[in-house]
Formats: sequence, structure tokens, C-alpha cells
Amino acid sequence: MKGNVFIVGLGLIGGSLALTIKNQHPNTKIYGLDVHQHEIEKAIELNVIDEKVDSLQQGAELADLIILSTPVVELRKIMKQLSSMTLKDNVIITDTGSTKGEIMEAANEVFNGKVTFIGGHPIAGSHKTGVENADLHLFDNAYYILTPAPEISNKRISELKSWLSGTNARLHILDKDEHDYIVGMISHLPHLIAGVLVNQAKKHAIREPLIRQMAAGGFRDITRIASSNPSIWSDIVMDNRHNLLDLIEDWMNEIRKLTAVLQAGDEQAIHHFFEGAKEYRDSLPSHV
Ligand SMILES: NC(=O)c1ccc[n+]([C@@H]2O[C@H](COP(=O)([O-])OP(=O)(O)OC[C@H]3O[C@@H](n4cnc5c(N)ncnc54)[C@H](O)[C@@H]3O)[C@@H](O)[C@H]2O)c1
Repeated sequence: MKGNVFIVGLGLIGGSLALTIKNQHPNTKIYGLDVHQHEIEKAIELNVIDEKVDSLQQGAELADLIILSTPVVELRKIMKQLSSMTLKDNVIITDTGSTKGEIMEAANEVFNGKVTFIGGHPIAGSHKTGVENADLHLFDNAYYILTPAPEISNKRISELKSWLSGTNARLHILDKDEHDYIVGMISHLPHLIAGVLVNQAKKHAIREPLIRQMAAGGFRDITRIASSNPSIWSDIVMDNRHNLLDLIEDWMNEIRKLTAVLQAGDEQAIHHFFEGAKEYRDSLPSHV
């Protein structure tokens, strides 16, 4: 592919996408914009982008592909701004937000079918943030979900897939609501649970300071994602709270069942609980 790519939000995901696009399509020019000047400077220094632009309007006018990679609440504000700007006729706008329902609804409202917007979510990442952590191989083998509205042609979807081919990800089309339910279960609920565990440990560490000193191995593994960017994750769980409330209810039912088993001292049931979890965990595909 040839043309101009404009990335708004030069963080971990926006920066990593810029690297994959430049690597796969060397004749592309990558422009970038961020609210933080130091991220823009770092992006230029690390050769993540070719040039900065001074405004959203300036980048939007030049672009054949616009990638919005800011926190999800900001994404919606930027989409609204873009909808009143002069864009190239054939521009494709996509995003990287971790929720899709609210974003697709906002896109439908602001672009009203006049611009090709294809929602996107690379299901890969890290608790690290910022362009200094951008990685050409971040998306290797990961699922990368696209949520085009039904009226988007296959031709436009294929074009976006070509732009994203350097991610080496598994590009997969999903309905926006199905997407939000799936990531609610495998990503957003685990983030909440990791946060609860860390806050619980902090509370108990007041009584027993060794808890903090000895937190290692398993505790660190299961709570790694509690180190993620709080702004990004507040936005995500607020967006997907409808699914999360159902999933939390279900989680509490599971905890209640476990509580009953422990109260009854039912050793066989506890063994069965761990056995079932191990069997399913061990059977998960190991592609990521
Ligand atoms: N980190 C992950 O694991 C992960 C994975 C998949 C998708 N996502 C999604 O990708 C998006 C970006 O996440 P990230 O991890 O790269 O975050 P990040 O914090 O590393 O980067 C976000 C960047 O957006 C910039 N920004 C914020 N508001 C802006 C605005 N109005 N205009 C221009 N720039 C703005 C910030 O300064 C920052 O540099 C989020 O929507 C997130 O939900 C994250």
C-alpha cells in the first residue's frame, strides 16, 4: 500500500501500529499527533512516525488512513471533530479502542454513513504505556478484531486488512456486541478482579506488613494487569459496564458456590473445582 497514514494518539498501540505499517509498506508516510508534546518528540526520535502535524485538521486532510489510538472517551470526541472536517473521499478511519459497542454507535451518529469507519481492536498489548514501549512484534499471532458496520463493502474491509497486514495478527470480523461480551469476560473482568486483589492485599498489609514484602510468584502473575494505565481502564470499564455487571453477578455466584463448599469442608468438591479449572486452562490455545 502507498499513501499517508495519520495516527492520533502516539502511545503503545498507536506507536506499535505505526511501526508495523512502515515496515510492511515502506512507501507510506506516517504522520502523528498526540496531546503530549513529549510523546510526539519521542515518536520522531524513535522513527515511529515520519512527521508531526500541528492540528487534527492538518493530519486529517492529508490522510488515506486515519488510526485513532487514544483512550476510548477521547476517541469519540475526535470522531465528532473529524466529522466536520474536510477529508479525502476514499479515507478509511479506524480505531484501536478496547470496547466497540459505544464507539460504533458514536461513529454511526457522527459519520452517518458518509465516511468509511471500521472499528478495530488488536487483542494484544501490555500494562506498559507510551511510545517508548512501541513494538513491531506486539501483535504477532494475536487476534485483531474488526467491527465494520453492515453497509461497509468487502473492498474497503480488504483495504484496511492490507494496511494492517504487517501486524502479523489474525484479522477477524465480529459484531460489536459480541466483541464487547467476549472481551468483557477475558479482559475487562480480569482487570477488575486484579484490581480488587491488589487493593485487598494493601488493606491486609496494614495489619501484616510482610504481605507486601512476600507478594511474589502467583500474586504477581495474577495481578500484573493491575499496573495498567488507570485512565485507559476507567474509560473501558465504564463503556462496557452493561456486560460487566452481568459478569460480576455471575462471578459472585461462583464465589458463593466456592464459599459454600469451603464452609462444608467438602474436600472432594474443592479438588473438583481445581481440577476443572486446570483442565480448561491447560486446553487453551497457546498462540499468544
Ligand atoms: N494497552 C493495551 O493493552 C491495549 C490493547 C488493545 C487496545 N488498546 C486501546 O488502544 C488505545 C490506546 O491505548 P494505549 O495502550 O496505546 O495507551 P497509551 O496511554 O500508551 O497511549 C494513548 C496516547 O493517546 C494520547 N492522547 C490522549 N488523548 C488524546 C487526544 N485527545 N488527542 C491526541 N492524543 C491523545 C496520550 O497522550 C497517549 O500518548 C485505547 O483506546 C485502548 O483501549 C490498548
